[in-house]
Amino acid sequence: MAYGSFRQFVDALEKAGELTRVAVPVDTDLLIAEWANREMKSPDGGKALLFENPTVEGKPSQFPLAINTMGSRRRMALALKVDSVEDLAQEIQLILKAKPPTDLREGWSLLKQGLHLLHARPKHSKEGACQEVVHLLGERPTPNAERRTPNAEGLTLSDLPILKCWPKDGGRFITLPNVHTRDPETGARNVGMYRMQIYDDLTTGMHWQVHKVGARHGKRYYERKERMPVAVTLGGDPAYTFAATAPLPDGLDEILFAGFIRKKSVELIPCKTIELDVPSDVDFVLEGYVQPGEMRPEGPFGDHTGFYTALEDYPVFHLTAITHRRDAIYPSTIVGVPPMEDFYMGDATVRIFLPVFKMNFPELVDMTLPPEGVFHNLVFVSVRKQYPYQAFKVMHGLWGMGQMMFSKYIVVVDEDCDVHNTSEVLFRLCANTDPERDSTIIRNPSDSLDHAPTLQNIGSHMGFDATRKLPGENYHRNWPELAKMTDEAQALVDALQKKTR
Ligand SMILES: Cc1cc2nc3c(=O)[nH]c(=O)nc-3n(C[C@H](O)[C@H](O)[C@H](O)COP(=O)(O)O)c2cc1C
Repeated sequence: MAYGSFRQFVDALEKAGELTRVAVPVDTDLLIAEWANREMKSPDGGKALLFENPTVEGKPSQFPLAINTMGSRRRMALALKVDSVEDLAQEIQLILKAKPPTDLREGWSLLKQGLHLLHARPKHSKEGACQEVVHLLGERPTPNAERRTPNAEGLTLSDLPILKCWPKDGGRFITLPNVHTRDPETGARNVGMYRMQIYDDLTTGMHWQVHKVGARHGKRYYERKERMPVAVTLGGDPAYTFAATAPLPDGLDEILFAGFIRKKSVELIPCKTIELDVPSDVDFVLEGYVQPGEMRPEGPFGDHTGFYTALEDYPVFHLTAITHRRDAIYPSTIVGVPPMEDFYMGDATVRIFLPVFKMNFPELVDMTLPPEGVFHNLVFVSVRKQYPYQAFKVMHGLWGMGQMMFSKYIVVVDEDCDVHNTSEVLFRLCANTDPERDSTIIRNPSDSLDHAPTLQNIGSHMGFDATRKLPGENYHRNWPELAKMTDEAQALVDALQKKTR
């Protein structure tokens, strides 16, 4: 069954030998980040870390902090409560291929799918653990008024163990926030992960980039000159956090997706100061709003790219309440030069959604976004090629699909090449391409974080067809055969080597 709290997940990590507890006080200003970076760079993503006594400006925080909880394939599977994320891919494939059952076995399997889909629908309740402790923070007289001193028991952002990740960061950043918004016209809900820079006790930046759904919802509110309610949740079942990062098509509700993957309906409860619902079992809820037209410089921030992203104007989030569980754990991550924890989140997304890609591209065999490419910079795809220029058709299709539009370099190889083996893909790329004939350059939207394009958000992308050439692909020689050992010789040497060990 699903995790009832983030703490339950942390306990499960510990039971599985995947967690290291750190009892000594460690400061949230760079030191936790440095510790976590070492862990994330160790083989297979190291361990998750639970800092039991984090300090903020030298003072103890009342909340422990967990980091790197999803930073390996094993922990990612534990987060989603599966043996392997391929189990979820298989379920999605079954749903995509579902047709009326022809026998009892198929009927039973479909019924099971139906039940999981039923879980996708959220439930509603009036109260939940995330509101065990409530701090109503009131409002400032004007958005830019002086920093407000909270009343004696009022918890503010300064009380959370929020990290400063890199030396030249503009401040502390909430790095694993699930940002809940609604489209004011359709009522459609969205949950996205957009980092939040702490400006003071009660305000933060809201870093939704221009292509993201939160930004689109925001634009609708600004056009209507209406204040935009925003709720930020931290923790709870890790399925929520994973769903917030998944590049679901705009309009596909992350709460439904989370319910589907955790095989249990998400229970939603109303916020205390804004008209939004949030999962009842998360660790923290930051309630607040974004005021139309109010922008403020955000950054710099040591980003996924491995470089600092520069100062840029982003909307401002004003806090009206913090609610939390009594046993809350503050979840966080750091991003930077790969590999980092986020690689495993992206990797799981590609593996889970592979059936959806395959439905769009029947020739697609496998696909991966290697860590060196930090998500969108590099995509390796293997295909079963049947007709000339099919590799180019796949590239163009990918460039037209949601956030795959950002893919800077796409390399297409034949089905017998393992896309998860970067050196094998590079071998095919170098050996099988004539650069002029086998490459294409297009113009497309670029990832806002990419510092290389001349202008932000637009740029060129390049595709390589590293497959063997078919007649009709402007190759007029005989394509050579790859030198491979026979299966028989391999089996014999396997047996001989076993004997000599
Ligand atoms: C750790 C982490 C931090 C992220 N930070 C941001 C961010 O600050 N701004 C942003 O636009 N996307 C960020 N993303 C990527 C988005 O969460 C991702 O593109 C997601 O699909 C957006 O959801 P949406 O399509 O509902 O807008 C981050 C992803 C991860 C894993």
